[in-house]
Formats: sequence, structure tokens, C-alpha cells
Amino acid sequence: MTAQNSSAATTVAAARMHEVTEENRDIVDRVLDYSRQRLLMVDTPLDKPQSATELSRLAGATVTEQGIGAAKALSIFEHILAPACITTDDPRYLSFIPSAPSKAAAAFDVVVSASALYGGSWLEGAGAVHAENEVLRWLAAEFGMPAGAGGVFVQGGTLGNLSALVAAREAARDRAREAGGPLPERWRVVCSAEAHSSIASAARVMDVEVVAVPVDADGTLRGPAVRAALEEHGGSVFAVVATAGTTNFGIVDDLAGVGEAAAAHGVWFHVDGAYGLSAMLSPEARPRFAGVERADSLVVDPHKWLFAPFDACALLYRDPELGRRAHTQHADYLDTLTETTDWSPSDFAAHLTRRPRGLPLWFSLASYGAAAYREAITASLVLAREAAELIRERPGFELVRDPQLSVVVFERVGWSKADYSAWSARLLDEQLAFVTPSAHHGRANARFAIVNPRTTLADLVLILDTMDAHGTAGGQS
Ligand SMILES: Cc1ncc(COP(=O)(O)O)c(C=O)c1O
Repeated sequence: MTAQNSSAATTVAAARMHEVTEENRDIVDRVLDYSRQRLLMVDTPLDKPQSATELSRLAGATVTEQGIGAAKALSIFEHILAPACITTDDPRYLSFIPSAPSKAAAAFDVVVSASALYGGSWLEGAGAVHAENEVLRWLAAEFGMPAGAGGVFVQGGTLGNLSALVAAREAARDRAREAGGPLPERWRVVCSAEAHSSIASAARVMDVEVVAVPVDADGTLRGPAVRAALEEHGGSVFAVVATAGTTNFGIVDDLAGVGEAAAAHGVWFHVDGAYGLSAMLSPEARPRFAGVERADSLVVDPHKWLFAPFDACALLYRDPELGRRAHTQHADYLDTLTETTDWSPSDFAAHLTRRPRGLPLWFSLASYGAAAYREAITASLVLAREAAELIRERPGFELVRDPQLSVVVFERVGWSKADYSAWSARLLDEQLAFVTPSAHHGRANARFAIVNPRTTLADLVLILDTMDAHGTAGGQS
């Protein structure tokens, strides 16, 4: 083969994957047909996991030197792999924090991928970043933050919390240096004992200490306890974190009291609203969040209760410049981006390359309007209250706490952890619901986390009925 021939052969082989050809037209059609059918499916099965051994047996080797072809790969996905993934937007998926993307948001996620958009810099993605920023500004205004507030959509609450805390420590360091005093030997972050595990994870990554402040009997972190911790640990505390909707119960800390305590000590106030802060969009729950407007930074996850697909967390800074100072990456090859004053989302978190993951939320909000969001969130708040009322009255059941938001925690009297586990496994096995057990103060319980406006009281009653029918682990019916 001459050099010319060999280079032509290489070009043909490489082009196979990228040119508009018969083969690629067929692939695109198949994938879009599948996506369309999946997006518009009415009775999507709940589905359940399979063992790796079983999946290997069923799917066989799919990554091979020659490829198995798109038709076969898509068929394996449709018939073997997808059914081994639980449908997280099923109305009876009530575990952890579910997800319930709107049709517009889920469909637009396809557009984001189809368009090869880069969301890291204004230079490359100005249009996408403009739309994301409009959503961020709208959220900031809803939360009462000042007009200059801004930030970025990151992958999830864990990365949002980490990025905010890194900015907080950087700001504390700068302040300490400016004041000419010594830097603390060990930096500390104050949060409640009920804070999400991602705060401890961030602290490990940052090599800082967590001061876990006890909550009051009702599970709420309040100002006096934070004040005591700040007095004890003095200048070593770089941030106070309050939770706006704890994961296990949906409890909103006393944001005004905690924010005031942080301000009195000149400490950064971060609000982790990954799950719960969305509820502030509903007039029903809005007053619970008084004080969030004091936040120096906050997070809220659209993939939880703002009807966006995975994965998206809105990270907002009161003063975005502090986020930029902490996170901008510098290198010769990035000077084109960093030597301008353009708003580049990469500069505001611990990341560089990013997809504009805020766009599905933007498209959904633009399509349906904010009022539709308020209504849908209110529906889950109301449903949680109704479910709690029903459980309180139901013989053999005990409500663990009155729900503040949309998490309902209850016990089936006399059940052990093994009973809950066996019951939960059976619910999934029978494709009835996905409700994993939880625990509080060492006592096992069951928990409904409701964010899907399609979940009904009848769904919840149907699940409760299975707890009547289900015997103890020793003797199941
Ligand atoms: C209060 C709270 N913070 C942070 C997170 C972490 O968010 P992500 O899973 O998006 O990283 C969660 C997740 O459930 C949460 O409930």
C-alpha cells in the first residue's frame, strides 16, 4: 500500500464514525426513535437490578474489536440493560430522594447532547451560558439573594457543597492574611449532626475538621447552638452550614438564627438546600426558609425537586467573585479565557470541562412557566401532609415526625430492621414500589420521599396495605 493509499484508508475508517452516511443516518434514527418512545411511554415498568453475572450472561461481550453494530447494541440496551435500571421517575419510587424530570426537560437533554455544546466558557458557549445564568438569577431572586448573586450548575449537591466550602475557606484565608494574624493550624466547618454526608465528604477532601453541632429535639439546628460552637472554636471556623431540608426528614434548620450567628462572628454562611430549597418556590412552604437570603452560598439540586434530569445542582454565591477567586484554573493554554472579564462557568466550581447541564431546566421553565413549578411542588407538600395524617390514624402504624416538606417517616409497629428489608425487597420484586428502609435513633422505619407530582395518595395507601399483609421476617405471609 502506498503512503497515499494508507492515508486514504485511514480517512475512510475515521470518517465512518463522524460523517453523515447511510449507516449513521440509521443509527441516529434508531436512537431518536427509542428516545421518543421512552419519553412518551405511559406505563413504564419500575424495573429492578440484576447481578453482574446474570447481566454478563444475558448481554454477552458487547465491546469488541469490530463492534456488534448499533442495531444489536441498542437491542441489548432496550431488552437487557435498561430493564436492569430502576425507573427513578416512577411515581412509586419513593426512596432516597427521587427524580421526576418534566417531559420538556428530559427531551431537551437530548438536544444538549445532540448539539455538542461546551458550557465551560463564555467564548465557546455564550448562548447556553446566557440561558443558564437567567435560570440562576431567577433562583437567586426567589431565594432573596442580591441582584449580583450568581454561580454555576455543577454535577450534584456533593460537588456544589464542596465547591462552596472551598470558596469559603479561601475567603477566610485571605481575610486572615490581610489582617496579618496567624492562620489557624486546622480549619473547621460547623454544621448540624443531621447535615448530609456530603459535608463530611467535603471536609475529608479539604482536610478540615467538622464540628457537628447537636440539633434541638425537633431535629432543627438553631442559632444558640451554632453561637456556642463559634465561641468555642473562634477564628478556626471558616464556614457554618445549615440544611434547608434534611435528607432523612426534610427538616429546615433555623436559617435566620444560624445565619445571624454566622454573621455575628464574620463567618461564611452556606445553605445546603440540595433537596429541600426547591420547596421555597411554593407559597405553602416559603416562610420556612426565612433567613436563606443571608446565605453567602447555597445549593439546590434541579435533579431532585426541580424536575430536571440527572445531573444538575445549582450553586449560587452572594458574591460570585469569591467563587471565581477560589476556583479559576490558570495555565498558558487557558489565558484566552481567563484574561477576559467574561462569565465562564468553569471559574465557579472545582471543575473545568462541563456540559451546560442547566439547559434542560431552562427549557422546561421557559416552556411551562414558573407557576407550573410552584403548583407541582405544592402538590407534593400537600400529599405528604395527607399521607402523614392517614398514617397517624392508621392502626399498627406510627408517624415518626410531622413532615415539614415532602418526606414522611413512619414505623410499622413491632417490625424489626429485617422485616422492613424483607418487605422492601418484596415490593420491588413484585414491581409494586421502590421504598427502602431507613432508621432514626437506632430504630428502623420506612420513609416516603415524594417529589413526583404523579404520585397519588392511592399509591401510598396501596403500599401501606402491603405492610398490613406482610408478616414479620420470621413468618412472612
Ligand atoms: C441535603 C442534601 N445535600 C446534599 C446531597 C447530595 O447531593 P448529590 O447526590 O446531588 O450529590 C443530598 C442528596 O440527597 C441531600 O439530600
